[in-house]
Amino acid sequence: MIKKYNFGTVFPTEAVVLDLDLCSDPMPYFSKKGEHLDLTYILERETIVYGLGESNRGINKRGYLYESFCSDTSTHTPDIFSMYGAHNFLLIHGRDTFGVFIDCPEKVCFDIGYSDYETLRITSDAVDYTIYVIDGTNLKSIVKSFRTLIGESYIPPKWALGYQQSRWGYSKESDFYEIADQYEKLDIPIESIYMDIDYMEAYKDFTVNHTNFPNFKNMVSNLRSRGIRLVPIIDAGVKIEKGYSVYEEGVKKGYFCESESGKPFVAAVWPGRVHFPDFINPDARAWFGEKYRILTDCGIDGFWNDMNEPAIFYSEEGLEETFAYLDSIRDTNIGIKESFGMREAIDNLSNNPKDYERFYHKFNGDRIVHRKLHNLYGYMMTRAASEGLSTIQQEKRFLLFSRASYIGMHRYGGIWTGDNSSWWEHLLLNIKMMPSLNMCGFLYSGADLGGFGCDTTYDLMIRWLQFGLFTPLMRNHSAISTREQELYQFPSTIYFSKLLKYRYRLLPYLYSEFVKAAKRQEMLFLPIAFEYESDSLTKSIEDQLLVGECLMTAPVYTQNAGGRYVYLPESMLMVKYNSQFERTCKILEKGHHYIELGLEEFVFFIRKNKFLFLAPEANNTDSLDCSQFEIIGYSNQTDFLSYEYYDDDGLSTKIDLSNLIKISLKKQTSGWALTDSTVPIKITKIEIFEASF
Ligand code: NOJ
Repeated sequence: MIKKYNFGTVFPTEAVVLDLDLCSDPMPYFSKKGEHLDLTYILERETIVYGLGESNRGINKRGYLYESFCSDTSTHTPDIFSMYGAHNFLLIHGRDTFGVFIDCPEKVCFDIGYSDYETLRITSDAVDYTIYVIDGTNLKSIVKSFRTLIGESYIPPKWALGYQQSRWGYSKESDFYEIADQYEKLDIPIESIYMDIDYMEAYKDFTVNHTNFPNFKNMVSNLRSRGIRLVPIIDAGVKIEKGYSVYEEGVKKGYFCESESGKPFVAAVWPGRVHFPDFINPDARAWFGEKYRILTDCGIDGFWNDMNEPAIFYSEEGLEETFAYLDSIRDTNIGIKESFGMREAIDNLSNNPKDYERFYHKFNGDRIVHRKLHNLYGYMMTRAASEGLSTIQQEKRFLLFSRASYIGMHRYGGIWTGDNSSWWEHLLLNIKMMPSLNMCGFLYSGADLGGFGCDTTYDLMIRWLQFGLFTPLMRNHSAISTREQELYQFPSTIYFSKLLKYRYRLLPYLYSEFVKAAKRQEMLFLPIAFEYESDSLTKSIEDQLLVGECLMTAPVYTQNAGGRYVYLPESMLMVKYNSQFERTCKILEKGHHYIELGLEEFVFFIRKNKFLFLAPEANNTDSLDCSQFEIIGYSNQTDFLSYEYYDDDGLSTKIDLSNLIKISLKKQTSGWALTDSTVPIKITKIEIFEASF
């Protein structure tokens, strides 16, 4: 049951896809004050507040402040309120259990028991917004209703689930060949290599630096023939440069955001001064989306959209103000006030909220100040790309993900979680963020494995990859001038080779679960409390996650840990791999367990009466065989186990769950066997562990 309430004159964000009638009953649960968004809900001591998608801190958001305001925040310390995405969905679980979605593209603040531990307060300067209140019988059903409201999640091509290598700084053809050679030489799987801003000519979108990439098209096809794809970045800002066609066309057609005076607004990002395409304007979207063809014509079929909060290094106005301040103190005895003032003036140059008041969008003949639509910008850029790519390559899926996002964008692409650091804390943040993202529709997502900022370490890389084995986007990405972290940079690479080959063994399961979750409006990563609601011990567990229907992951995320505690809400089959990738399986009873896990060892669990199917090892999806499996499972007082397997060619846009392959196993006197010998898959080995507690 979903109730919809409109306030003011709402902007069509297209976050939701269901056309619901407005509700005339009073809004349940919340008390509402005034014209501006201001909602209050009284929390009980034990109430849990889930949600907020890409945001800081825990799965339970209780006790802190969060702001939905897409922000170019490069240091994700615990005191950061807003990140790149704005995902205004909360799921409250206590005396009442319900969901609330605030469809408001302006900044929204969530004080979740921070100012007063017993009070949830949602506020904004906005007067135009829609509120949806979602009821349901349990946490999973509320999420499902919400996800049905906002529409089906983006499904990438299958290859997008392979291992991907990235770094800011690859700037010439030989860099890409070197990576491919090294991975091949060391027999480490690789699916794609990312092209960060350095591939462009002077950071101009849809250009390639021809001096450094004299045979770009050839390079794309050479690498493709070796099973490797290239994935270029596209930035939001378009360089102001005479003769640069994207700039000239944009100006001519009036497709850039305007300043107060009606002239295209000038801000600066990597290329220096840029204009921002007005992605709110459907014509500008269609125009920008079509530009991706320049690269698809070279054989590219995956992109990442960046800096689309939009990030601003400075605006003309901001620059003027800063220089004016610096001039004003130039001849003074610069003391404490001025020293701090200078620092602040420089810091305030970038991503200054004042700048978001200085430019305008055009929509249906109206002119709307950016601040009021801020959180839609990255969403609409990615929508432009998605719609463009869908036209360009019709029946074929493409890889697309974005940094900034808003709910609604999950239908057009995925997200990565931006500039984390090579800190153990950020591995844990990655773990905690996954289910929150899934609640909000973002299934194709992942963090920069190994960490983006700061220098990574061998042990962090290993532990992060052990978790990354399960995340749909499995990409190692790092910042320029940090320690190089391509896997061949580490003295010992044998383990990485084995670990990544294992990703491909898991891939058919992950892909099947991903597609089913997208089509059925479900989560791929679930907090265990969602599945075992009646077990109160699960409520505070945030470092173990269910991955699809059959698995639970329990990653190690602390340095020098020789293992970890795991809580099992019911008996499960522990599957542990050692450094040689030898497997030990053991049924563990419900309760607390300490599992020893040396650095090159990891564990996951198969749930009761479920099984996992593993493909043969592969080094990329081209060579992956998704029709031949080894099965490991756990049976508890049953002679019958079954799984509905989804597979397809990994590329076609026609995705139909009516073709699920039912893998059913029956215990016979000679052991476990497939019940139906006509299923179009081959089972090479079945190992079912049995217990009855
Ligand atoms: C910011 C992005 O978050 C990061 O991933 C990228 O490497 C840099 N921009 C440079 O393009």
